[in-house]
Amino acid sequence: MKNMKAKIDRNGCIACGICWDICPEVFRMAEDGLAEVYVDVIPESFEESAKEACNSCPVSVITVE
Ligand code: F3S
Repeated sequence: MKNMKAKIDRNGCIACGICWDICPEVFRMAEDGLAEVYVDVIPESFEESAKEACNSCPVSVITVE
């Protein structure tokens, strides 16, 4: 898919860290300890791992589209 983007509903993030463990190329811990997306468009080679991170978030606050 072209121009895939990730978003996080940060209000619901519990900082479990799974997303940045699985896909540190797209997700990281922000200064407040919660997850943030730090790329605009997900590089094609990381689309699969970004989707996996999305599916693995225990509180399902990540969307990838
Ligand atoms: Fe937060 Fe879910 Fe990542 S709880 S740290 S967005 S896996």
